[in-house]
Amino acid sequence: MSSLYERLGGIGSITAVVENFRDRVAGDDRINQKFAKTDLARLRKMLIDQVCEATGGPCTYTGRSMKDAHAGMKVTSGEFDALVEDLVATLNHFKVGKPEQDEVLAVLGPLKGDIVEVDSSQVRTPLPPTYEPAPALMR
Ligand code: HEM
Repeated sequence: MSSLYERLGGIGSITAVVENFRDRVAGDDRINQKFAKTDLARLRKMLIDQVCEATGGPCTYTGRSMKDAHAGMKVTSGEFDALVEDLVATLNHFKVGKPEQDEVLAVLGPLKGDIVEVDSSQVRTPLPPTYEPAPALMR
């Protein structure tokens, strides 16, 4: 069977999905305050590499571990679910089939424990001032 990477349509499709998703998250006031200090060019590259590698494509993710990247951000379960909702909206926008959507979500679901620090359905919680963002991408 072909890889999920191939069935999603390769690097061009993954790039389009990541950019649509990034714009959705940027416009989602349930979670966008968490990105206040973030270099969005770096985030774009890291998400493309992570999704490409995780779905069996020819990329290597070079970013921080999910635990390190999100440590001290105080992400709640409600905010995690909000982000997954934005992702599903993006996948629907590109008419990604249900089986592929379920596979993408199955890859991401197990990361929840490394990302969520606060077991609460609250959203719009602030980014703690002590949070240290990753260095901006060198360009
Ligand atoms: C399955 C869900 C998620 C995945 C796969 C994911 C993936 C990533 C990746 C790959 C990075 C880049 C790390 C790096 O630059 O080294 C990142 C950074 C980030 N993530 Fe997530 N993330 C998820 C959920 C969330 C949630 C729920 C929030 C907040 C509501 C969030 C907020 C952020 C922020 C603010 C950054 C930038 C960190 C910085 O400035 O260095 N993420 N995430």
